[in-house]
Amino acid sequence: MAKVTLSTLRRLKEEHKKFGTITAYDAAFAHLFDECGVPALLVGDSLGMVMQGRESTIGVTVDDVVYHTGCVSRAVTEAMVIADMPFMSYDTPESACRNAARLMQAGASVVKIEGGVWLVPVIERLLQNGVPVCAHIGLTPQFVNIFGGYKIQGREEAQAQKIVETALKLQNAGASLLVVECVPAPLGSEIAARLDIPVIGIGAGNQTDGQILVMHDAFGITPGHTPKFARNFLKETGDLRKAVELYLSEVENGSFPNENQSFF
Ligand code: KIV
Repeated sequence: MAKVTLSTLRRLKEEHKKFGTITAYDAAFAHLFDECGVPALLVGDSLGMVMQGRESTIGVTVDDVVYHTGCVSRAVTEAMVIADMPFMSYDTPESACRNAARLMQAGASVVKIEGGVWLVPVIERLLQNGVPVCAHIGLTPQFVNIFGGYKIQGREEAQAQKIVETALKLQNAGASLLVVECVPAPLGSEIAARLDIPVIGIGAGNQTDGQILVMHDAFGITPGHTPKFARNFLKETGDLRKAVELYLSEVENGSFPNENQSFF
């Protein structure tokens, strides 16, 4: 496989080929995922929970993500590396640029930011400065204190339509990718169908263009609560490499996530 770029993921969408992606935080796992052909790795701020033992992502800093992005990007030859911008590191276009520069210099090719239409000027400014953006909508964990917990988003019609409109506005502002988290499967499907950019789901049903899993959820080693949309591929295969390959093939053939791993 050649070096994966945004064009690769766009082409997969155009060809109606689903793809699996996964989080990574260190060189050993990043190398393994790269060898297995995972097209994109996310250095997620979920590192706050799975690496640092925190209860949420709020305590993760730009320094933390810079460190883990360096570890991951030095270990891959083909996979595209996406780095999460942590809580309050993109509250203005200026701070977004300052902090995104550090993540890009650490090896990321794309940065991910969570939120709604207020992200439009942030996305525009990052793009003007050469930083591709993955927007993240639906259940955005950095807003857990606003949501009052990790709750499914978009169950009511009005809220669902607002999420679709937000997705379109973020695409029009220049987002190159969209992550949609914990929404009913029909809503995940509608967003993927209405957008031209690749839509990567987590807890959003099996009709999005791509899927993402926190690696610990895919291996059954999550400290604390394992979400409903997770599947322990390691238990099924007994081997890390086979677990990753099974994850990729089950996403590609539409078997993962199934109805029990989706919300309605
Ligand atoms: O931080 C993270 O790992 C994420 C994924 C769950 C999408 O944002």
